Amino acid sequence: MNRLLLGAVLLEKLALCVTAQEMLAPPGQVKFESIDYKNSLHWAAPTNSSCLQYHVQYKIYGELDWLNASNCQGIHRHHCNLSGATSDVREWYYARVRASCVATSSKSAWAMSRRFSPRWDTKISPPTVKLNLSKQGVVVQVKASRVLMRKVHNGVDNNIYVVHPGGKEEVYEVASGSRLTLTELKPRTRYCVQAQTVVPRHMKSSDRSTAECITTD
Ligand SMILES: *[C@@H]1O[C@H](CO)[C@@H](O)[C@H](O)[C@H]1NC(C)=O
Ligand SMILES: *[C@@H]1O[C@H](CO)[C@@H](O)[C@H](O)[C@H]1NC(C)=O
Ligand SMILES: *[C@@H]1O[C@H](CO)[C@@H](O)[C@H](O)[C@H]1NC(C)=O
Ligand SMILES: *[C@@H]1O[C@H](CO)[C@@H](O)[C@H](O)[C@H]1NC(C)=O
Repeated sequence: MNRLLLGAVLLEKLALCVTAQEMLAPPGQVKFESIDYKNSLHWAAPTNSSCLQYHVQYKIYGELDWLNASNCQGIHRHHCNLSGATSDVREWYYARVRASCVATSSKSAWAMSRRFSPRWDTKISPPTVKLNLSKQGVVVQVKASRVLMRKVHNGVDNNIYVVHPGGKEEVYEVASGSRLTLTELKPRTRYCVQAQTVVPRHMKSSDRSTAECITTD
């Protein structure tokens, strides 16, 4: 094939692409959001047209093939649950989404996310703290999020921060689900407790929970 002919073929292909793809603008702000290893893709509508449907694909970093996110084909909502597709925390993933409109048989180009790592990009949610007075002292019960526990199979610790009157803070480390009893506290005194979930295997931790307070008898 001579060079001129090749050029003509390329141009024709390009023209086809342009007509097929430029009819709809691609979705915007395509990004993963991840809490406790629950991963979802979010995007913004390219126009306010009511006919828009979205199609989501994902792939593992380093692999060639894009795979269809089976539960997110032809959807109207602007998010897709990719927890199942991106469940291996050690992998890196990409996702992409495009808009289509059946009424005008038009499609947008794909809009791609940045590279996503469940392990590094997820946010750990803070645990819940419950305080209770017993004869021995203040019983602290801390529970990490159930979703997180299921994902990391109990491989979490909790740091418990106890603020004494006057502001001095003490830190205890306990396994999730176990209780800590604070003893030798001053009577008729208010103590406040915060907690933080740690996933040692992934070197990650949550923000501190809001403070729970209790006044001793
Ligand atoms: C949709 O967008 C058009 C053009 O930008 C605008 O004129 C119209 O008010 C919008 N409609 C709604 C419901 O936002
Ligand atoms: C993804 O879905 C599209 C449209 O339904 C189909 O043409 C394509 O072959 C699918 N790709 C894979 C890898 O299954
Ligand atoms: C997302 O998908 C996962 C795995 O397929 C499922 O366990 C989870 O309940 C789904 N989350 C929501 C909010 O639908
Ligand atoms: C506090 O602890 C006691 C003894 O373990 C228990 O009977 C009681 O139900 C607890 N109260 C609350 C509010 O959890």
